[in-house]
Amino acid sequence: MFRKDKHAYTSGPRQLIVEKEPKSPVSEQFRSIRTNIMYSSVDKEIKTVLFTSATPSAGKSTTAANVALTYAQSGKRTVLVDADLRRPTMHYTFELTNQRGLSTAIVNDMPVENILRETIIENLDVVTSGPIPPNPAELLSSKKMMHLLKTFSMHYDMVIIDTPPLLAVTDAQVLSRIADGTVLVTDVTGNNRERLQDAKALLEKADANILGVIMNNKKMNTKNDNYYYYYGSDES
Ligand SMILES: Nc1ncnc2c1ncn2[C@@H]1O[C@H](COP(=O)(O)OP(=O)(O)OP(=O)(O)O)[C@@H](O)[C@H]1O
Ligand SMILES: [Mg+2]
Repeated sequence: MFRKDKHAYTSGPRQLIVEKEPKSPVSEQFRSIRTNIMYSSVDKEIKTVLFTSATPSAGKSTTAANVALTYAQSGKRTVLVDADLRRPTMHYTFELTNQRGLSTAIVNDMPVENILRETIIENLDVVTSGPIPPNPAELLSSKKMMHLLKTFSMHYDMVIIDTPPLLAVTDAQVLSRIADGTVLVTDVTGNNRERLQDAKALLEKADANILGVIMNNKKMNTKNDNYYYYYGSDES
């Protein structure tokens, strides 16, 4: 049914450069992010890493997917969790269906095996978002979510979590409290120092372990990205 060639994820709309061009300088940068995460904490092993940003479209999902790939390529059993229950993308990136996923596991008490999906990349599994729920923040702050994350970190060497932007909704803030580490991705082309500082303040309020900031140099998007419209107001 699916293409089984080695570069199956490089022809769709959301290509993974670490898979497509592993020797490129950009892929090397993603590997150095992996190394930096590894060395960022001496006392505590970092097993669950959350990627977020201050504002929309900073490159969170792109970074999370590529970093997850570098972990998988280094032999670590890795799971990439799409916890952006508002604008999820991982099912597109990995060409997976999305009828079941994180949201269904939380709401329907579905066994974890039902939502862990293998990818054609060795050592890399994905949990897609599942159908978009009306109350993402509530789902993500539930005991069930905490339990799921614990289960993931027991079964995998590395858990990478993609989330919505901090200044739009509370989802990432809530999750950063339970992740071992949080990485802030920022789009340097639209860089806004104040917003980055506001985002940092929210993470500190949640007692998040901020590992660092990734300066992403994204090409300008020509179409109007009306993100706050999609996210609406903070419902929690
Ligand atoms: N460094 C980059 N160079 C070129 N394009 C990029 C780069 N980083 C991200 N993009 C592109 O910009 C768009 C937004 O990136 P991405 O979806 O990763 O951002 P995001 O922060 O997850 O967005 P959202 O807030 O909607 O979840 C995507 O089309 C992605 O392919
Ligand atoms: Mg995203």
